[in-house]
Amino acid sequence: MRPILLAFALAVLAWLLVVGDLVRRHRPAWYWYLVGYPAAACRVVFTWRKVAMLNDLAVSRRPPRGLLGDLMVKGEPLRPVAPRISFPRATRMGLSVIVRLHAGQTPATYMKAADALAHAWKVHAVRVTSPERGLVLLTATATDPLERPGLATAPAELLSALIGVLESGGAWVMNLRLVPHWLITGATRSGKSTLLARLITQLAQQPVALVGIDCKGGMELGLFSQRLSALATCRREAVAVLSALVVDMQDRMNACRSAGVRSIWELPDKIRPVPVVVVVDEIAELYLSEGTRESKAEAEQCSTLLLRLAQLGAALGVHLVVAGQRVGSDLGPGVTALRAQLVGRICHRVNDPGTAEMTLGDLNKDAVAVAQSITAEERGVAVCTGPDGGWSRARSHLTSTDEAVSTTRKYAALTPELPAIDRAIAVLEGDDK
Ligand SMILES: Nc1ncnc2c1ncn2[C@@H]1O[C@H](COP(=O)(O)OP(=O)(O)O)[C@@H](O)[C@H]1O
Ligand SMILES: [Mg+2]
Repeated sequence: MRPILLAFALAVLAWLLVVGDLVRRHRPAWYWYLVGYPAAACRVVFTWRKVAMLNDLAVSRRPPRGLLGDLMVKGEPLRPVAPRISFPRATRMGLSVIVRLHAGQTPATYMKAADALAHAWKVHAVRVTSPERGLVLLTATATDPLERPGLATAPAELLSALIGVLESGGAWVMNLRLVPHWLITGATRSGKSTLLARLITQLAQQPVALVGIDCKGGMELGLFSQRLSALATCRREAVAVLSALVVDMQDRMNACRSAGVRSIWELPDKIRPVPVVVVVDEIAELYLSEGTRESKAEAEQCSTLLLRLAQLGAALGVHLVVAGQRVGSDLGPGVTALRAQLVGRICHRVNDPGTAEMTLGDLNKDAVAVAQSITAEERGVAVCTGPDGGWSRARSHLTSTDEAVSTTRKYAALTPELPAIDRAIAVLEGDDK
């Protein structure tokens, strides 16, 4: 009788293991509610006192100095009390805990302890917010939501592109009306061009002129040539295109001045010029000169023209999206000034810590640390800034070459004419003959 019972128990166990594994893989949310959450909740409750003590979250009610006989002694008082927490609430693929702060504590102490909490609870990450004075909300996510992201949705708006998914599960949107110019950094094969492809396929559907500058012979942006109003594939063409854009911008300025308005968006629909988005893939190709006098002059011209577009473009509907591996002053003095104008920032995996610092450092130190921890496997993962000054980890939607080509073809008829640029390129070609 016994061996039969044992075999039966083993069979049930094996069955549970197999079914558990299937549920974990195909229905991760069910698995989280059934197995992950109860275990994590127990960990939170049972480790809280110890974790709080080790991370200086626990405070003793007794004063740090006292009398010992006739002596006044100072020191760490014993028996610290951990702050009170609510029972962990299950969320989809995570849990949340409310902590009541001790008097004198600030959320900053908890932010410092966030990593320790993530390890103690065995979760992917813990974020700290303070929804109400005196309270801190700890939100844990069980696994990395960017490992296999779905696609979020966002309302279609002019000059706004749905790029991918934020770590919170929300939509990652680049809205050029809110943030006019963007800087995108990352090492080779970290996802810069993929992000540009996504941006272009999104903007292609809108009444927007797209101008490409891709001095690696147009390998990346050439895919979109049917929907681009102009494409520069070498630095000489880039100078021509950018100069023509600066002239065009002056016309826009005159139009605004004579109508007595401060931006093209205040002009009546009928006379409003079409917005232009200038996409630059690999900025170093424009700034680094090969040493000859001619190439040096070209590099300087590019630098001056880009800076001018960035400084005046926002109100005139001329937007810059610049991608590069490095954006340090080794590219030339102009690059620092340009960087200051590109307020929107996206930082993929970088080779040197300096680039993450240059992209995100003036905004937030934590964002720099998170960007530096992006691994080579996490292609398309980046740290991006939001319109409200906040930042988030995010992943772009992978746009395949087929998708890019078919979108371009579909919307090719929408391509606005920019006669000034066409003329500039025609002059260049005339020179060559
Ligand atoms: N969001 C993404 N999701 C998945 N894979 C991606 C993503 N972005 C990029 N990749 C992969 O990384 C490769 C290199 O990306 P790419 O955009 O060419 O990098 P870069 O321009 O920075 O050199 C792509 O061919 C693609 O396979
Ligand atoms: Mg690239």
